Amino acid sequence: KLHEEMSIPLYFGWFPFYTVQEKVKERSMNFLKTLEVLESFKKHISDFSKEEGKEVDLEQFFKAKGTLHCTTKFTDYGKAEGAKEYTENKTVEDLYGSVTELSLSALFVTPRTVGARVSLSEDQLQLWPEDAEKEAEPVVPGASTLPKGSRAHVTLGCADGIQPVQTGFDLLQILLLQKDGKQAEQEEIDPGTLTYYGEGRWYLALKEPISAASCFSSVYK
Ligand code: A2P
Repeated sequence: KLHEEMSIPLYFGWFPFYTVQEKVKERSMNFLKTLEVLESFKKHISDFSKEEGKEVDLEQFFKAKGTLHCTTKFTDYGKAEGAKEYTENKTVEDLYGSVTELSLSALFVTPRTVGARVSLSEDQLQLWPEDAEKEAEPVVPGASTLPKGSRAHVTLGCADGIQPVQTGFDLLQILLLQKDGKQAEQEEIDPGTLTYYGEGRWYLALKEPISAASCFSSVYK
């Protein structure tokens, strides 16, 4: 059995195939390139740069963080709460190594992170920890009121000094603003509907979600 042979990994997640990774990185780059030349983005440039009239090169602003993936459970070699239970979970064992199509339904940017929202299917939600949203509560008050799976994302890049765990928090915060029906600036651009939620938070709902064939696996570093 899996858990008898393996110690607990750093994290479990879905890992897009190499060619899919390249496709997602390209879409991410195109999004940043589109965003930085938009008049509406330039109008709010002070969210990203305090220097008057200074332009921001978003492709430089965000640094890639290794292999793209969608974390299901951060187990921290057994130190994280619920790590052992998750590793030994029957569904986790059964689906370990299986392939699934993730649906990347939106791209988002904040002054801290750039990421892709992952809209999980019923099957994929079986691998989603019960308390993933609740665990974000200290950082994002109200996060636990969002539907299960709301935190699912792929980190595409982080600003200097920012840890990838921030991407999920940024997504949850945006989804809470959406839920509260916060007044937001909206415009149609080629890949979909772009919304500005204030404080440097930009959310692009894709007309055509990006389909990402991925393998459910884990990482030991
Ligand atoms: P994410 O899934 O947003 O990319 P690190 O490199 O910092 O050790 O993290 C390894 C992976 O686990 C990263 O992908 C990271 O974020 C995710 N991660 C780190 N800490 C947590 C946490 N406390 N809760 C959930 N995911 C985490």
